[in-house]
Amino acid sequence: MFPSIDDVVERFRAHQYLCSRNVATVVFLASKLRRPILVEGPAGVGKTDLGQTLARSVGVELVRLQCYEGLDETKALYEWEYAKQLLYTQILKDKIGEVLAGTGGLRESVERLTTQEDVFFSERFLLSRPLLKVIREGGVQVLLIDEIDKADPEFEAFLLEFLSDFQVSVPEIGTFKAKERPLVILTSNNTRELSDALKRRCLHLFLDFPEEAMETEIVRMKVPEAGPLLTRQVVKMVHGLREMDLKKVPSISEALDWARALALLNVGALDDAIVRDTLGLVLKHEVDVKKAREQIPRLVSRLPSAAGGAE
Ligand SMILES: Nc1ncnc2c1ncn2[C@@H]1O[C@H](COP(=O)(O)OP(=O)(O)OP(=O)(O)O)[C@@H](O)[C@H]1O
Ligand SMILES: [Mg+2]
Repeated sequence: MFPSIDDVVERFRAHQYLCSRNVATVVFLASKLRRPILVEGPAGVGKTDLGQTLARSVGVELVRLQCYEGLDETKALYEWEYAKQLLYTQILKDKIGEVLAGTGGLRESVERLTTQEDVFFSERFLLSRPLLKVIREGGVQVLLIDEIDKADPEFEAFLLEFLSDFQVSVPEIGTFKAKERPLVILTSNNTRELSDALKRRCLHLFLDFPEEAMETEIVRMKVPEAGPLLTRQVVKMVHGLREMDLKKVPSISEALDWARALALLNVGALDDAIVRDTLGLVLKHEVDVKKAREQIPRLVSRLPSAAGGAE
């Protein structure tokens, strides 16, 4: 799959995702050991995109399970297609005469009907949800279990079993088992502590805000229209804001959004006025915007200039 750690770095870059050697090493090991990766870290640092990029790099479609409070096995594993079953009931009703043709007594008729019941609960009417889907499809599969911390602890416990043997039992049909262990990425924003048992089954990866140089490269790659000076200034500003005591510091997402918006406004370089007017793109809480406004002159004075100064 990935012959080396360098290959992970290169293929991820080819799919517009920059990763450090540390991240690439964990991905490489997970692909060799077929152990799930648990990615933790603040919002907007590329946790979900890591899963998406992994699928693209392997050349398969990502199977994604978005977690939320109340998520249960039906939504994660499988459901019966009631509408289709109902339609089938209708057809059966129309054909009841043919089905029961030649039967003698009541017992024989009931027995004949029972054979029809098996069809109702067969693969024909089984609707695979992400976990079953990943098992039923052949070949390498990439499964993203996004925001596992939002699911209830009961679901997490159920997931433990799934992650150890990758098999699913459907009582009416039997057991499905993955022919090849899928590559699994779980993400968490740490809204609650995950169980030790889950952590033990996974390779752990903590994604943090990137260093300035790396973030500049990400913005340059994703928003080339921003130009080199504006890109460096945006990243420097975002890093300055991250040092402040804010309710919600800006993430890579906000750096990208800001650069895109400024490029759209044909801004070549930042100054106090343009920062003040567009601060709402970077900070999402009014208290943060107010706090940051006071610091604009100081932050702008530290920005790199066209001549390559400041920094
Ligand atoms: N290393 C990276 N290389 C390229 N783009 C990145 C990188 N890290 C993050 N991004 C970009 O930053 C944005 C946010 O990433 P993503 O949605 O994956 O974050 P997240 O950690 O899942 O956030 P949340 O916790 O809010 O779900 C995306 O546009 C993603 O492409
Ligand atoms: Mg995400």
